[in-house]
Amino acid sequence: MRGKILLVMVAAIALLGAGVALAGISTTKHNLSSTGTGTIKASAGQQNDEICVWCHTPHAANTAVGAPLWNKATPSATYTMYGTTLAGSTPDATPNGITKACLSCHDGVSAINSIVNQAGSGGYTAGGTNVAFGTTVAGTAYTMPAGVTQIGTSLANDHPVSIIYTAGKASLVATSTTLTGWEGATTVANLLRSTKVECSSCHDPHSSTNGLFLRKANSGSALCLGCHAK
Ligand code: HEC
Ligand code: HEC
Ligand code: HEC
Ligand code: HEC
Repeated sequence: MRGKILLVMVAAIALLGAGVALAGISTTKHNLSSTGTGTIKASAGQQNDEICVWCHTPHAANTAVGAPLWNKATPSATYTMYGTTLAGSTPDATPNGITKACLSCHDGVSAINSIVNQAGSGGYTAGGTNVAFGTTVAGTAYTMPAGVTQIGTSLANDHPVSIIYTAGKASLVATSTTLTGWEGATTVANLLRSTKVECSSCHDPHSSTNGLFLRKANSGSALCLGCHAK
């Protein structure tokens, strides 16, 4: 009997472990290796048929972007920022690092397949180079196709980003407010990057447990209500 219970427990723990692994980036559209769940990805056997390489490198990262160990070129587009400042705050004139990191694939003009330090040895290009990606040949830029995932270069019609979080404005709660059931955050302060709201305040690019990489499923507008006491 004891042995059986132990076996069941071991199996349950193994399943739990598998569950955690499944909740990671590998089962999302941000797995741009050939095993990813989306349609925009590398083909099996291509040099960069890996997961992290499309965003991070352990060495020789592009520090100019301001995202951790970033492996992509600095986007050269000019962005229009959110302009309707009902609550009074004005976003920074240009997007900050983490937001720029997202835009380097989502702006529709920057190449998704441009990376700085390629997988394996030998493929380093300081400014980034367009590598072979699926049926796209090396040297050609693969940009985000038109559609809802193409945010574009105008952020005027998107929730403000690269904007300072000031409690009280727009009914924003105190940064010490506790959050329950959010990915990677237990307080509102955890959502901010250098005291500002950026794309990754609402999204965790590594996990789509809540769908659309959201840090909290937005049923009942729970995501919005995490910051705005409306
Ligand atoms: C689609 C792009 C993308 C891919 C692919 C990606 N990351 Fe990230 N990663 C980011 C961004 C953007 C940030 C900054 C996130 C933030 O501000 O919260 C980040 C942050 C991190 C951090 C530091 C912050 C944290 O969340 O702990 C670690 C560690 C990390 N990534 C590891 C990985 C590993 C390991 C892989 C591959 C299994 C990977 N990432 C794949 C975009 C990506
Ligand atoms: C290396 C390129 C790359 C980077 C960097 C990147 N994305 Fe994506 N993202 C993609 C691709 C490719 C898709 C799939 C698009 C499609 O199929 O239309 C995607 C899809 C998404 C989706 C939709 C997911 C779904 O399930 O439909 C969201 C939300 C998203 N990304 C947010 C972000 C955010 C936020 C960041 C920055 C923290 C970011 N992405 C950085 C490439 C990237
Ligand atoms: C204030 C929170 C918030 C911020 C900041 C934010 N997003 Fe989102 N994003 C959402 C929510 C909520 C959804 C789901 C919308 C829906 O269900 O239609 C979403 C959806 C998306 C999608 C999927 C397409 C769509 O509209 O459904 C993409 C791609 C995306 N976001 C990228 C980004 C990028 C890139 C940034 C930074 C420029 C960003 N997001 C900043 C909350 C945010
Ligand atoms: C991470 C915290 C955070 C989350 C989550 C968040 N917001 Fe905001 N929101 C802000 C900040 C910061 C501002 C800028 C307020 C200011 O102008 O000072 C803002 C501003 C706004 C504004 C007013 C913009 C203006 O013109 O003044 C609206 C409307 C808004 N958010 C709606 C939403 C909705 C809808 C959601 C959910 C999809 C959401 N917010 C989620 C932080 C957040």
